[in-house]
Amino acid sequence: MLSVLILAAGEGTRMKSDLPKVLHTAAGKALVEHVLDAVAPCGGQVGVVLGRGADTVKNRLAARKGLTFFIQKKRRGSGDAVRPAARWLARRGGDVLVLCGDAPLVRTETIRALARHHRREKNAATLLTAEVADPSGYGRIRREQGRPVAIVEHKDASPDEQRVREINSGTYCFRVRDLLDGLRRLRPNNAKGEYYITDVVGYLVGRGRPVGALCLPNGDEILGVNNRRELAEAAQRLNRRTLNQLMDGGVTIVDPASTFVDAGVRIGPDTVIEPQTFLSGHTRIGARCRIGPMTRLTDCRVGDGVRLDATMGENARVDSGARVGPWTRLRPGAVVGRDAHVGNFVELKKARLGVGAKVNHLSYLGDAVVGPKTNVGAGVITCNYDGYQKYATQIGAGAFIGSNVNLVAPLRVGSGAVVGAGSTLTKNVPAGALAVERSATTVKPGWAKKRRLIKLRTSHG
Ligand code: UD1
Ligand code: CA
Repeated sequence: MLSVLILAAGEGTRMKSDLPKVLHTAAGKALVEHVLDAVAPCGGQVGVVLGRGADTVKNRLAARKGLTFFIQKKRRGSGDAVRPAARWLARRGGDVLVLCGDAPLVRTETIRALARHHRREKNAATLLTAEVADPSGYGRIRREQGRPVAIVEHKDASPDEQRVREINSGTYCFRVRDLLDGLRRLRPNNAKGEYYITDVVGYLVGRGRPVGALCLPNGDEILGVNNRRELAEAAQRLNRRTLNQLMDGGVTIVDPASTFVDAGVRIGPDTVIEPQTFLSGHTRIGARCRIGPMTRLTDCRVGDGVRLDATMGENARVDSGARVGPWTRLRPGAVVGRDAHVGNFVELKKARLGVGAKVNHLSYLGDAVVGPKTNVGAGVITCNYDGYQKYATQIGAGAFIGSNVNLVAPLRVGSGAVVGAGSTLTKNVPAGALAVERSATTVKPGWAKKRRLIKLRTSHG
């Protein structure tokens, strides 16, 4: 039987934040969500120990099934944190993977390898460790005859021990019985006056129990986030990991340093992501697209061969072959049909453009349907809101809406209809009709010339 326990009750003092530390976001997910996602495929029931801001964390994780929460009332150290879960663990028996909620880089394969190693060696405890260039702040692994015999916290380490570069990741696999036995013996006699889970290791070794370690060749996966600098570092590494996966899958990332993609984003091959682009949430992008520069998409769906330039999109859909931007805003419910064009300074909200439709300049379309091949001229506005309610505008296929037209909704313009420039329409237009709402043009020959002469005379007089 395998259980998983995530320690996430720490005070997070060094973050200097009102938000519980494990809810701080890196690469689109809270720190603890990264850890939960990494352990999920390993099987085993998952327990999470919460402390400060427990309700806030629980709310955030409410959608995740099968988590058991424990509350550590007083935060007295990582060893003390296991205690609220002791009965749950005792009942389940077997082995338990213990992870820190503030170490978001640990990968599923590594956790699996740790559990395998632990079982193969029939250990009481197996530590996940790594050799790093700069071990400061981390617990050091003390070895004798090659075997790990204790973990010494940075603050408690002698100068000799501080030189050790093998560090404790904070991820462990324990035999439940040995862990619980060890916890009962913990004493807070260390620099911080806390009950350290790491002291269980020395205790078990002293009792002659088998303790082992799986040592990673570098520290890529074990960065623990204790302050904002480490948060930024973790976010950057997580982002780089996602970008590398995308590049391995045939996506060109022109400038990885200015491209930010959440782990849940999918992109098809031969798509090029230009600099300063942010792709978040469940955004899906097809093949052979060119996205960016300066584009931000959240939960958007983009087909194949789409060109999106300087576009801000949220919950929007852009079908294959469409061209959008630059400087376009696609708000929730915007749908840009196949081969449609949307140009500069256009805002779409709950607006569906049909196949090959064009809205090329300076328009706002809200709560609207635009038929295939219809051309919407510059500066067209759907007046969809009367201050109380929203109303719909429907434009048929192959229509032509002249520039600077106000379509006062609710309104229908039939297929093939033409609306003259500058009109403010409050009546439906049947298919094939022309609608113009505009006072007649008055032309007075010579008027301007005469006026100029009068003005000249009076200013010289
Ligand atoms: C801990 C390890 C250290 C390791 C490092 C890896 C201990 C004593 N030290 O140090 O060897 O190198 O992680 O990142 O464990 N927690 C609680 N309740 C508490 C205290 C802590 O739940 O009362 C949780 C924290 O939320 C965190 C984890 O335990 O997830 C570790 O605590 P933290 O204070 O961050 O320990 P570090 O100093 O980082
Ligand atoms: Ca930590």
